[in-house]
Amino acid sequence: MIVAEALSIGSKKTNRDRRSRHRHSLLEVGVHYGVECGRCKLVEKVFWEDRWDEERIGFHQSVFNEYLLQFWPQVGAPEGAKVFVPLCGKTLDLHWLQQQGHKVLGNEVVDKAVDDFFREADLQPTREEQGGVTALEAKGICILLGDFFDLTAEHLEGVTAWYDRAAQVALPPETRKRYYAHLHSILPAGAVGLSLAFEYPQEEMPGPPFSIEESEIRKHYADGFKIELVGRRDRLAFEPTLKEKGLSRANEVIYLMERI
Ligand SMILES: C[S@@+](CC[C@H](N)C(=O)[O-])C[C@H]1O[C@@H](n2cnc3c(N)ncnc32)[C@H](O)[C@@H]1O
Repeated sequence: MIVAEALSIGSKKTNRDRRSRHRHSLLEVGVHYGVECGRCKLVEKVFWEDRWDEERIGFHQSVFNEYLLQFWPQVGAPEGAKVFVPLCGKTLDLHWLQQQGHKVLGNEVVDKAVDDFFREADLQPTREEQGGVTALEAKGICILLGDFFDLTAEHLEGVTAWYDRAAQVALPPETRKRYYAHLHSILPAGAVGLSLAFEYPQEEMPGPPFSIEESEIRKHYADGFKIELVGRRDRLAFEPTLKEKGLSRANEVIYLMERI
């Protein structure tokens, strides 16, 4: 069934058709999300489109991220540095990075997220097709609208720093390995990143956000990145809702990573 659906990708189907055909993945997201379905790329996009359409965007913060403010100085990115922000949604952190004098290069796959970002900031971006993705740009912030896995090293030319908040944790294990491999293939050598992850017993809650233990980071990604753990914060103590969700442990972990 899934393979048959995969073969019909090229035929003309509406988004609604795709959604109903892929309900299995959306409902059983913890199992199928990006792992077992032959059309995982599409499933993931539809999954996120639905969340944005239905405004189920609890991950979006109405303030700048506290760890960005606290740990960004350790990245050591000078004024003028070009900073890549994968899977950026409509995060206000793009504004904060721009205010530090950086050139900001976000990436997001859902049109609505990008439209909302510029509209809410009262900005009218220019639009340009750039090698399979659309670059929208205003006031020193460029967002590449398209699938992260379609980005190339050319898109990231000149990038010397990056910031991952709620990007890697948005992806299930198999996709996450592809994410790191692809990130490595498109980032210039020497680029330094601030990378945030969650740690919690995965069996206690389905993702996203997914849990990423330090052991996974060190085991799977150390070939391509120098990794330094710079902070670990116990979230259970501050967010009672996490306990209500049944979590017995929940940490936010902050890494500095250098693409080698
Ligand atoms: C959990 S949200 C985090 C957004 C943002 N980083 C933040 O902190 O608010 C993950 C975002 O990644 C986007 N996304 C998921 N898969 C993607 C992909 N393959 N390429 C680009 N964006 C993607 C989703 O649409 C969503 O906006």
